[in-house]
Amino acid sequence: MKRFTDRVAIVTGAAQGIGAAIARRLGEEGATVVVADVNEKAAAKVAKACGNGSFAVATDVGDAGQVKRLHETVVKRAGKIDVLVNNAAIVPFQPWDQVDFDHWRQIMRVNLDGVFLMSRASSDAMRKTGYGRIVNICSNTIFAGTPNMAAYVAAKGGVFGFTRALATELGAYRITVNAVCPGLTASEGVMASPHAKAFEFVEMLQAIKGHGKPDDIAPAVAFLASEEAQWITGQTVNVDAGMVRW
Ligand SMILES: NC(=O)c1ccc[n+]([C@@H]2O[C@H](COP(=O)([O-])OP(=O)(O)OC[C@H]3O[C@@H](n4cnc5c(N)ncnc54)[C@H](O)[C@@H]3O)[C@@H](O)[C@H]2O)c1
Repeated sequence: MKRFTDRVAIVTGAAQGIGAAIARRLGEEGATVVVADVNEKAAAKVAKACGNGSFAVATDVGDAGQVKRLHETVVKRAGKIDVLVNNAAIVPFQPWDQVDFDHWRQIMRVNLDGVFLMSRASSDAMRKTGYGRIVNICSNTIFAGTPNMAAYVAAKGGVFGFTRALATELGAYRITVNAVCPGLTASEGVMASPHAKAFEFVEMLQAIKGHGKPDDIAPAVAFLASEEAQWITGQTVNVDAGMVRW
């Protein structure tokens, strides 16, 4: 399947984990992928693997100036922006007693402000061409109220609401905005954190047994980012082996 031939897609936080799997999947299907991540070296490697003239741009999504520069670079080098996948996020393990305002702001800055800054700039570019797909990577923790992640769950709850509102704002331009909520997934970030110990517990709650991998998340994102999903907007899909049903 080559659903993204001649399409330009920005995937944030795609130097590793779920973002890298999404970037590779879009690249396999023909997209020129812009890998936007703070980790420049790893981002360049992923971009090379994506093919189709894909490239990396070192970007902190929580920094308005860097987001502006990213968009200028993409329009200059690739001519347009068809797809934005807001994947970059900090996935913390922070017990409630250690949640102070600095931690709260750090998480909001990347996980919620970053989604706003990227969506603001990308949707402005998309409106110029009359085509666009925005897919926000949310989390099933917003339904489960997962422990040790209060600021993260709050930020992702914001992404969930923002997805609905932005779909309304951009519907007139036929730009769709949807969200995908992964369940616990064995990304590099998760495997290096105490969350790695939760797989057995989470598996008990899943309808389909097994441990989630980044490649399990990418197909749903690719579908929502494709032309054929043109009649779907403002929606949130759990991709978590049926752990959360709503
Ligand atoms: N892995 C899971 O279990 C899980 C579950 C639900 C949702 N998610 C969501 O999936 C997405 C990817 O998670 P992951 O587990 O692959 O994470 P990860 O920690 O493995 O990778 C995150 C990537 O984001 C980048 N990044 C961090 N801060 C950034 C910033 N300010 N600007 C640009 N890039 C930045 C990192 O450099 C890294 O490459 C996130 O939105 C996360 O909240 C993950």
